[in-house]
Amino acid sequence: MKIRAAVLEEFGAPLEVQELELAEPKAGEVLVRLVACGVCHTDLYTASGADPSGYSPTVLGHEGAGVVEVVGDSVTDVAPGDHVVTLFSPQCRECEHCRDHRTNLCLAIREQQNQGHLPDGTTRLSRDGEPIRHFMGTSTFAECTVMPEIALAKIDPEAPLDRACLFACGLSTGIGAALNTAKVASGSTCVVFGAGMVGLGAVVGCRLQGAERIICVDLSGERLALARSHGATDEMLGGPDVVEQLLELTGGLGADYTFEATGNVNVMRQAVESARMGWGLATMCGVAGKGETLNVVPRFLITGRRIAGSSFGGVKGRDQVPQFVDMYLAGDIDVDAFVSHKLTLDDVNQGFELMEAQDGIRSVIDFA
Ligand SMILES: NC(=O)c1ccc[n+]([C@@H]2O[C@H](COP(=O)([O-])OP(=O)(O)OC[C@H]3O[C@@H](n4cnc5c(N)ncnc54)[C@H](O)[C@@H]3O)[C@@H](O)[C@H]2O)c1
Ligand SMILES: [Zn+2]
Ligand SMILES: [Zn+2]
Repeated sequence: MKIRAAVLEEFGAPLEVQELELAEPKAGEVLVRLVACGVCHTDLYTASGADPSGYSPTVLGHEGAGVVEVVGDSVTDVAPGDHVVTLFSPQCRECEHCRDHRTNLCLAIREQQNQGHLPDGTTRLSRDGEPIRHFMGTSTFAECTVMPEIALAKIDPEAPLDRACLFACGLSTGIGAALNTAKVASGSTCVVFGAGMVGLGAVVGCRLQGAERIICVDLSGERLALARSHGATDEMLGGPDVVEQLLELTGGLGADYTFEATGNVNVMRQAVESARMGWGLATMCGVAGKGETLNVVPRFLITGRRIAGSSFGGVKGRDQVPQFVDMYLAGDIDVDAFVSHKLTLDDVNQGFELMEAQDGIRSVIDFA
């Protein structure tokens, strides 16, 4: 079938919306008609050429939600008409990692996905007979995409898809960091560095876990105000003196849990140093620049602090994304407040511009 899609032709240049050919799904694969897709930093990171593993041409996009249109042979978990959220982090339920509660990093299709291929090593996207590679196993800046069944979370059809799509990446990453990675205990004190989509998700996650105090740190007063409406109890402007100020606020000892959601390695260090002596856990969500390292004085660890990292919030997507969507429908997560702009596919580059200007939390492409 013919589809319209936003193609990354050349790093650093605007995406080009073009007509491509999308082949039918093979065994274990599903054709999804996208209804909505968020524009995330990782799309921009790859489009800019900063990502060392990036390639072109490819169809970007990974924060997708849509409706199943066609299923390939042996697909059992979804059927035409089902509403789904796309998962760049799949869940095969069979590999060593999927069977272990300690991680969400499914091993089933990693290599093929990193190369821009579907699990059988080929692509369903092409242009004039030339194969075009997939991106993050999702390629959702497109009217339709073909994805492995193990990379789709089936959700309640009552959920508006232009909201549900945020659970495909940033929002689940933040919420999951608090629920899965840190397992925040009720009554505790938390610090969240960064009030973008991921940090705000972490604020929501800490609130859902019953944290007593949630201190949010950001450079933007506007974003800090938003953090308060999602459950932050204290706000602080970021900067070099933040650790001192946080220690003052927490009786000199630091917080039970800290979360880093900026991608800045200096802030990661602050997250370690503001975690409590004895048991403070610092969870890193941000993606640092190529070659950057986290500088930690070992004394902080010897005296009982721990550091964890969190990819997609430790969320096993097929199981947990539908639960998050249910929590949204029950009124426990205010997703509406995160959708700042609605765009058409043709405006996809404007989504990048808004992100660079820090205008709003998320721009969502509406395919309707
Ligand atoms: N681990 C994962 O699976 C995963 C998934 C998605 C995104 N990410 C990463 O998470 C990070 C956050 O993503 P986002 O979409 O929320 O980004 P964002 O740019 O919307 O938010 C980052 C926030 O950090 C704030 N900030 C910058 N410098 C600061 C400082 N010195 N002190 C305090 N706050 C500061 C900014 O003001 C901004 O509000 C990025 O690095 C992104 O690549 C990771
Ligand atoms: Zn993302
Ligand atoms: Zn697996």
